[in-house]
Amino acid sequence: MADLLTKTRARRAATLSATLPLGQILDGDCIEAMRSLPSASIDVVFADPPYNLQLGGDLNRPDGSHVDAVTDHWDRFDSFATYDAFTRAWLTEARRVLKPEGSLWVIGSYHNIFRVGAILQDLGFWILNDIVWRKANPMPNFKGTRFTNAHETLIWASMGEKSRYTFNYRTMKTLNDELQMRSDWVLPICGGQERIRKDGVKAHPTQKPEALLYRVLLATSQKGDVILDPFFGTGTTGAVAKRLGREWIGCEREGAYREVAEERIAMALPLDESSLVTMQAGRSAPRVAFGQLIETGWIVPGSLLHDRKRRFSATVRSDGSLLSGDESGSIHSLGAKLQSAPSCNGWTFWHLEHEGALNPIDTVRQKYLLSTEP
Ligand SMILES: C[S@@+](CC[C@H](N)C(=O)[O-])C[C@H]1O[C@@H](n2cnc3c(N)ncnc32)[C@H](O)[C@@H]1O
Repeated sequence: MADLLTKTRARRAATLSATLPLGQILDGDCIEAMRSLPSASIDVVFADPPYNLQLGGDLNRPDGSHVDAVTDHWDRFDSFATYDAFTRAWLTEARRVLKPEGSLWVIGSYHNIFRVGAILQDLGFWILNDIVWRKANPMPNFKGTRFTNAHETLIWASMGEKSRYTFNYRTMKTLNDELQMRSDWVLPICGGQERIRKDGVKAHPTQKPEALLYRVLLATSQKGDVILDPFFGTGTTGAVAKRLGREWIGCEREGAYREVAEERIAMALPLDESSLVTMQAGRSAPRVAFGQLIETGWIVPGSLLHDRKRRFSATVRSDGSLLSGDESGSIHSLGAKLQSAPSCNGWTFWHLEHEGALNPIDTVRQKYLLSTEP
């Protein structure tokens, strides 16, 4: 009986999935676009809505240069009441299209996140976490009138207090070097090669880092799940979903951004291989989990690692765990298991091959750390 139920559910999911515009960016207003989707068909909604930054006038650095702030028309609302009505409307649609066991992510700043949080609770969502994304390299407060605004907040919510939802606890722990993943995430803002530019100008003012989406999707969805992003922008959600084997649907009303997103998702994602850097000597390095190097693209899932004498090899998996034959584990635990040793420092034990030479993965960690220095 249970088997029959599972099969019926799987058939229903497949039929539903076939009716969805998977891998497409829907144009026009996202509220209208979401109305075209069937109810209870989406596994995860990730939303990066307008923040309603209320920026008036230009902002300059102390040297007089202009700060590239978000002043775009899509971020402007006449009043808090207008913003609230818009928020209620898109959240209502997001709730309708989400499966009962689906979950919602919304990212925002102090300008909007409290309003969004109250409205989504009023609609029946149940807040599971508020994640603080601590920016490793925030923009200073140029006027010196307030604290440096160094974080954004992500609300993660289920459909209701008693709803089931996906949380890949083990994956997160592995990603975080065997420590329970906390609700404060230190990740760099989007920059360098990852930042999309057209003729030298940023293609979008608020492109989010892929590392952030990597963690969100790896933690709260399964391979094959459908992820909907109603405010697609440059398609960060689509690019990471594709990388992780998830299906995606985007909504974006600006044609120029849709074009950027389509191009980006069609392309293989370039690895940030900046190696202009020297080793970080003599300083105690801040803690970096192996999974962070995967999230940020410094080490690609599928890479082969070896010990220095090439006695052991292992393949890197998407959650930062390693697989060697039938054995798997974190860089440390697998290294220890293979050598039948009580412990192992995976950073110095495992090596990546580059042009015939083996380099400890610790060198990648050092380069990553240097790249995130303000
Ligand atoms: C904060 S940005 C999202 C950036 C995106 N997460 C990225 O990484 O590139 C919000 C986006 O939503 C779009 N947008 C704003 N209001 C919209 C609406 N009502 N319907 C569809 N798209 C909208 C804007 O054009 C903008 O690209």
